[in-house]
Amino acid sequence: MERTFLMIKPDGVQRGLIGEIVKRFENKGMKLIAAKLIQPTLEQAKNHYIEHEGKPFFAEIVDFISSAPVFAMVWEGQDAITLARNLIGKTKAVDAMPGTIRGDFAARNPFNLIHGSDGPDSAQREIANFFEPHEFTSYDKDIQPWI
Ligand code: CDP
Ligand code: MG
Repeated sequence: MERTFLMIKPDGVQRGLIGEIVKRFENKGMKLIAAKLIQPTLEQAKNHYIEHEGKPFFAEIVDFISSAPVFAMVWEGQDAITLARNLIGKTKAVDAMPGTIRGDFAARNPFNLIHGSDGPDSAQREIANFFEPHEFTSYDKDIQPWI
């Protein structure tokens, strides 16, 4: 089982796309184990994008995700990280295929609606940046063996 950190960015929340986006991960059969609507602090935003520190777009993306509420989530499942990245689509809106979240709804950077962890180490770091251990639920879904 793998965990991934997914975050609907401020543009997704403002555009009323929380339900539409969450639905896609539910449809895929992934399991939601923690979620909250939260406005990231500057500190959290910098931490979140630490791998991009020094790049020309760093300040812009830090400002962007700390500017308004985001919907932060942790999803669990076999290959959850890759499955989620595939549902999200390519970073640049013009490259993102129709059928993916970004391909269907995003038009330009940095407004590409959702973040998804790109590997197990970043997932762990990003989850710890937004969630405390007591915020996780543990439950079984009887449908799981069929997915
Ligand atoms: O989000 P993803 O992992 O697909 O892309 P990233 O390379 O980790 O970049 C993080 C975020 O920075 C992107 O999702 C875009 O919102 C933004 N970005 C940008 O505005 N301009 C770029 N040239 C690259 C990324
Ligand atoms: Mg990334």
